[in-house]
Amino acid sequence: MTIFIFVFAVKLNEALVGLCESSVIVHGYQCQEFYVKTEDGYVLNMQRIPSGESSSSSGDDDVKVNKQPVLLQHGVLVDGMSWLLNSPQQSLPFILADSGFDVWIAHTRGTRFSRQHANLDASQREYWNWSWDELVDYDLPATFNFVYHQTGQKLHYVGHSLGTLIALASFSEGKLVDKLRSAALLSPIAYLSHMTTGIGILAAKAFAGEFTTLMGVAEFNPKGEAVTQFLHSLCKNPGIDCYDLMTSITGENCCLNASTVDLFLKNEPQSTSTKNMVHLAQTVRDGILSKFNYGIQVMNVEHYGQGKPPIYNLANIPKTLPLFLSYGGRDALSDVKDVEMLLDKLKFHQGEDLTTLFINDYAHADFIMGVNAKEMIYNALISFFGRH
Ligand SMILES: *[C@@H]1O[C@H](CO)[C@@H](O)[C@H](O)[C@H]1NC(C)=O
Ligand SMILES: *[C@@H]1O[C@H](CO)[C@@H](O)[C@H](O)[C@H]1NC(C)=O
Repeated sequence: MTIFIFVFAVKLNEALVGLCESSVIVHGYQCQEFYVKTEDGYVLNMQRIPSGESSSSSGDDDVKVNKQPVLLQHGVLVDGMSWLLNSPQQSLPFILADSGFDVWIAHTRGTRFSRQHANLDASQREYWNWSWDELVDYDLPATFNFVYHQTGQKLHYVGHSLGTLIALASFSEGKLVDKLRSAALLSPIAYLSHMTTGIGILAAKAFAGEFTTLMGVAEFNPKGEAVTQFLHSLCKNPGIDCYDLMTSITGENCCLNASTVDLFLKNEPQSTSTKNMVHLAQTVRDGILSKFNYGIQVMNVEHYGQGKPPIYNLANIPKTLPLFLSYGGRDALSDVKDVEMLLDKLKFHQGEDLTTLFINDYAHADFIMGVNAKEMIYNALISFFGRH
C-alpha cells in the first residue's frame, strides 16, 4: 500500500473535457480519467477504457471484472491521443477493449494533458529538466504501478517508438518485470545509429553539436517559434525535403487515412524537453544506449560517480520475459539494421518468448494509424497477449 504515498488518483469531474469525453465516450465506450503523480512531482493524465463496446450499456459493474490490463505508452512528440485517431474498428485501444482487455492510456510529462506538477509550473525552466532517463525512473513506474494497484493484476504493455525505448531500458534494469505479463514493442527504438531520416540526422547533429547552448533547460515545443525556425533552417539544407514534413521524419507510411492525418496534425505534435531531444541525439550519435551524457566529465562524475554515463545493457532483459516486436521496412526512425542490433541483444529469448513481425510496407506512423494495422499487426498482438 505504500505506493499511495507517491501516487494519487482523482476521478475527473464529469464537466471537464478530457480525452475520454472527446475521443472515447463519443464512440459508445466507457471511459475514466485519472491523474497519477510521479515520485518527482509530475502529474500524469491517464484514461481507462474498462470494457468493449458491447458491454457499454451495462453500467459500472463491468469495471470490477477481472480483465487483464494493458498499458499503452506513446512515443516522443505526441501524446496518448495518437492511439485514438482512426475509427474504433481500426484503433488499438478500442480493438483491445473489444477483445476483452482493460485498456489504460498514458501521457508523458510535458504533453498537453500531463503538464501539472506538485510545485513547478510548465513555464518554469526546472519543469523541463529531464530526459528519457526520468521517463524510465519516474513516469513509467508511476503509471505502471498505478494500473497494477488499481487492477490487482499483472500488465501487458504496448509501446510505440520512445515508448519502446523506455520500456526496454527499464526492463534491462530489472524494473517492473515482476508485474509484467508481456510487452509488445511497435516500431522499436533502442539503437538509432542507422536512422535514415535526413531531417532527423541533421537535427541530431545540431543537438549534439550545439550542445552547450541547446542543453539549456527548456521546453521543446514543435509548434513554437524557436522550433519552427530551427526546422526551417534544417529544411534549407540540400537534399532535405520538407514539403511533407511528416513523411520526411517517419518514412513513407503506406496506409494512412488523409482525414486521420489531418486530425493528427490538429492535435499533435506535442512538447517534450530539449534535454530529452539532446539525449536522443546522443543515442543517434553514439550508437550505444546510455544515460544522459552531461558532456563534461566532472558533471558526469557528479551525477553518476563516473566519467561516462552508465550504459543500459539490453542483454540483461530477463530472457523469459515475453516480447512481441513489430517493425517496418520503410520506417526511417526505427531502421531495420538498428532493430537487428536490438534483436541480437535479445537472442537468448526462445520460441514463444520472442515473436517478431516484420511489415515490409510499414513506416513509423503506420503502426499506430495504419488503416489496416488491425489485420497486419493488432490481431497477432492480441493472440500473443492471449498466449501469455
Ligand atoms: C537539473 O537537474 C540536475 C539533477 O538531475 C541538477 O543537477 C541541475 O542543477 C538541474 N538544473 C536546473 C536548471 O534545474
Ligand atoms: C478515413 O476516415 C474517414 C473519416 O473518419 C472515414 O469516413 C473513412 O471511412 C476512412 N477511410 C478508411 C479507408 O478507413
